[in-house]
Amino acid sequence: MCGIVGYMGESKIKRILLDGLKELEYRGYDSAGFALMQNGRIEAYKAVGKLDNLIHKTEAVQSSGFGVGIAHTRWATHGKPTELNAHPHQGRFSHVVHNGIIENYTELKKKLQSEGARFLSQTDTEVIVHLYEQLAERHKDSAKAFEETVKQLEGAYAILLIDERCEDRIFFAKKGSPLQIGLGESGRFFASSDAALVGLCHEAIYLEDGCWGWVSPESLNLFEGESPVSPVAKAIPPTLHSAQKEGFRFFMEKEIYEQAQVLGDTLMGRLQEDRVHLEEIDRTLLDGVEALRLCACGTSYHAALASTYLFERLSRMEARVEIASEFRYRDPVLKSSELFVVISQSGETADTLEALKMAKRAGLKTLAICNVDNSSIVREADATLLTRAGIEKGVASTKAFATQMMVLWLLSLLIAQRHKTLDPALLAQEIAAMRHAPQVLQVPEKLHDRIHRLSKRYLHGHGFFFIGRDLFYPLALEGALKLKEISYLHAEGYPAGEMKHGPIALADSELFTIALLPGTLLKEKMRSNVEELIARDSTTLAIGPECFDLADDYLPTQPTDHPMLEFYEMMVVMQLLALEISIRLGNDVDMPRNLAKSVTVE
Ligand code: F6R
Repeated sequence: MCGIVGYMGESKIKRILLDGLKELEYRGYDSAGFALMQNGRIEAYKAVGKLDNLIHKTEAVQSSGFGVGIAHTRWATHGKPTELNAHPHQGRFSHVVHNGIIENYTELKKKLQSEGARFLSQTDTEVIVHLYEQLAERHKDSAKAFEETVKQLEGAYAILLIDERCEDRIFFAKKGSPLQIGLGESGRFFASSDAALVGLCHEAIYLEDGCWGWVSPESLNLFEGESPVSPVAKAIPPTLHSAQKEGFRFFMEKEIYEQAQVLGDTLMGRLQEDRVHLEEIDRTLLDGVEALRLCACGTSYHAALASTYLFERLSRMEARVEIASEFRYRDPVLKSSELFVVISQSGETADTLEALKMAKRAGLKTLAICNVDNSSIVREADATLLTRAGIEKGVASTKAFATQMMVLWLLSLLIAQRHKTLDPALLAQEIAAMRHAPQVLQVPEKLHDRIHRLSKRYLHGHGFFFIGRDLFYPLALEGALKLKEISYLHAEGYPAGEMKHGPIALADSELFTIALLPGTLLKEKMRSNVEELIARDSTTLAIGPECFDLADDYLPTQPTDHPMLEFYEMMVVMQLLALEISIRLGNDVDMPRNLAKSVTVE
């Protein structure tokens, strides 16, 4: 959700800024812009739409020698995606880029306007630059002005600001939105994610909330409130590679194909013969834990929902799920005997992060299941299980979900071992199924071809119902989310048994039902529910190991005796179906409209 890049040094500034934005574009792609300062003059460039527009527009722009630059790729929150609303925002002598939301911008704007500031955009961000300039004029001290500016801002932000009057500084501040300072041989770098720092530096300072300061060629000045803080640099993970499409049409397609391999990575070192071993979890973390409270958003929320079936069935442990944005504003009754588990691919989702802080304040032990080490959620939680999916660039989450499910399955078995809720033979069966899981995620060419051909029949209609029961109900929710995100067709996930309590009224030949028909769980019940829809003429695509003659279309999965293996195979089928429908509709699969990868605003 918005990406920020900054650079100070002697290398090609424009190239560094644009390359950095390319790495972060998945975070927001409504517009992009950058500002370069050389010899005390700032030039800014902006373009609406994808980054390529900005790249073309600035082909002739050159920079040489020492300079500073800040850049931004935007996901609109306040104001339409226009050039005027694109960052950087400017005052008379300074420019700013910002990720997050300034909650008190209306009152700040009114005040600044009444004092003569002229606003050009509809954004909340613009108040920062006018406020700074007003304070800079008053104090005649840019650092003091920046400090005072930050003090007056409420909300969430990662900010970079440059000022023509101090041409060798970049000011920065962070609260609630990620920001890192990369320390490289060719200068200082800033980025919202270390993906943009790879290849430029080996170490970065992961800023904590409440930090602000400035960098100059000679120094890095870091403060928390009024107190100076010593910066602590950490190595950027060596495994972090800049993701490339490697011959696939889209990152999402590549990431679907990668699932078999990354699931193997998720399991690495975590299975010991017939036992689960999670060395990241200190034995005491589970001491006194009687129930789990899982909290997440979107796809990660679906993983949480699916895992409750595993925690109940395998660990015999109560597991309750919360949507983070709802949880935050309730007055939840929390018990110290609950372990609070947050699930997040990015580790930066604002609502999930705040929910985590709430649970900590209430005295609960906390565990993060996350894909990004050093992310805000990882740093906040008491313990973390990394999902090891690698960088996920497609906005529609695929391999992150697959690995989250695996970590949750592992956790359910760890608890089962501790509480002895599974006899050794059953535990061994679970572990054998787990070891086999990466294989069922391999995509057979024939299956992908078949889905490609079938997809042309599912490009219209008045809606899709993805239906399933038990574990396959949250999977149906996830299948529907994938389709609507990238095809813009209306799709809903529903528990199959609930259809007759209302939604079946929608059934006709233009209503598409995607039915998950596993062989291992509630087979007959599920068939009856599907037949009820077919009797009302709903066009039906059945997915499962047994051919279902009554359905209009059928996609096969392998017969197996473990529901999680069916779960994974059906997950891949639905991901490919959404992908192929979206491609046929001519959509940008990786950067669907209105979305962004990492939702750092509430
Ligand atoms: C959907 C998707 C989103 C995210 C949600 C939470 O494909 O990716 O629904 O799952 O925004 O994000 P994380 O997992 O980063 O907290």
